[in-house]
Amino acid sequence: MSAPSDTQRMEKIVSLCKRRGFVFQSSEIYGGLNGAWDYGPLGVELKRNLKNYWWQMTVHERDDVVGMDGSILTHPAVLRASGHVEGFSDPMIDCRTCKAHLRADQLVEKKGVKQCPNCGEKDLTAPRQFNLMFETHVGAATDESSIAYLRPETAQSIFVQFKNILEVSRKKLPFGIAQVGKAFRNEINPRNFTFRSREFEQMELEYFCRPEQGMELLEYWKEERLKFYENIGIPRSKLHVLTVPDEERAFYSKGTYDIEYDFPFGRQELEGVAYRTDYDLSQHQKATGKSLEYFDEETKQRFVPHVVEPSAGVDRTVLALICEAYSEDQAPDEKGKMETRVVLSFHPRMAPIKCGIFPLLKNNPQLVAKAKEVVALLRPHMTVFYDESGAIGRRYRRQDEIGTPFGITVDFETLGEKDPALRDTVTLRDRDSMKQERVAIKDLPAIFRERLA
Ligand code: GAP
Repeated sequence: MSAPSDTQRMEKIVSLCKRRGFVFQSSEIYGGLNGAWDYGPLGVELKRNLKNYWWQMTVHERDDVVGMDGSILTHPAVLRASGHVEGFSDPMIDCRTCKAHLRADQLVEKKGVKQCPNCGEKDLTAPRQFNLMFETHVGAATDESSIAYLRPETAQSIFVQFKNILEVSRKKLPFGIAQVGKAFRNEINPRNFTFRSREFEQMELEYFCRPEQGMELLEYWKEERLKFYENIGIPRSKLHVLTVPDEERAFYSKGTYDIEYDFPFGRQELEGVAYRTDYDLSQHQKATGKSLEYFDEETKQRFVPHVVEPSAGVDRTVLALICEAYSEDQAPDEKGKMETRVVLSFHPRMAPIKCGIFPLLKNNPQLVAKAKEVVALLRPHMTVFYDESGAIGRRYRRQDEIGTPFGITVDFETLGEKDPALRDTVTLRDRDSMKQERVAIKDLPAIFRERLA
């Protein structure tokens, strides 16, 4: 059953994203460019943490995966062979009354009659195929011969470089090639904040195997990917695995799972895990006349490898992380009066800033100097934020709202004024429990190494 939508919650999340510098509308001061988003100082850190962790899990921690970084501009022959030039399209309908351009599946049906979801009128054009690829021209000429496309998925450059990478990496099947990068689709209706954008990033793995391993590896990668989401703070209970029915699957795929998440606007796809058979390599082999076969030294067999592809969206996962982390609770203000606290409970691994560092008073040079010493001690290991302005409770709230998991306060005990035994200790506050513990400054790097692992 799909989760109910929560418009109010989503509005609060979008507003927080702008207010605190996670995500801004692209070209905002010019009225905005629909379907494009800019990540601000905190958004870019969150996004990097996600991509780095994916790379660490998928490439660095494995013996059987190598990475690549392909170009965005793509030769049209590549996308003709892959089927994108012919078939990467959505059926599109226009409403003659309100002039809305709609994807055919967005029409509403009342008493068996299709209506425009915007104005409710029924004067609609017949569906026509709309190719989602962005076309551009390379070089000075702007004719048929100079057409290139902005890649609609990162996968194709992996297939096209398969032979080169196989040769240089000397991997044996099964092995994978991973890539993180931008993809572009001229979506008819970008919507739900960053969820459906025209420019977005993907984290894709093409895991090549023998034909008989395909179905088993499809299961394996589905489970690996579910573990990944749990490791970044998205609980299993919020994830749903949809087995894509035969009639909705690409004709060449022998099995596809969609990993879905309960967003505030409903249950939607985060990632696809597909067994694409040998379709892509075979297509490129046919189109180029160059062998993309694998030679098995042991069995002396030569064949085109099959592939299982976990393909995740960076922007969708960032959005899921923010939606999952957003909560409101009650916490006492300076005077002990309860107030609403907005918290982003990011997993510490994903949090843009790991630790806020505060001198209790900004006009006490000793406190300030000590706090800056702590900053210098921790900065080489993690992102920290120094803040000396406002009451300490306000400073905690500001960090809670951006998801900083830890806060360090340098106070008079740190200076040894009350008890010499407490000299060079600080309070370490936990964002979620709001509990504070007293720890020695010299122990901080080791404490964080353990808590941020
Ligand atoms: N190579 C396979 C492929 O591209 P896809 O299901 O079309 O498959 C994979 O895309 C993932 O890319 C999706 O699960 C989603 O996370 C992300 N994605 C696709 N279109 C997107 C869009 N318009 N905006 C944001 N993310 C998108």
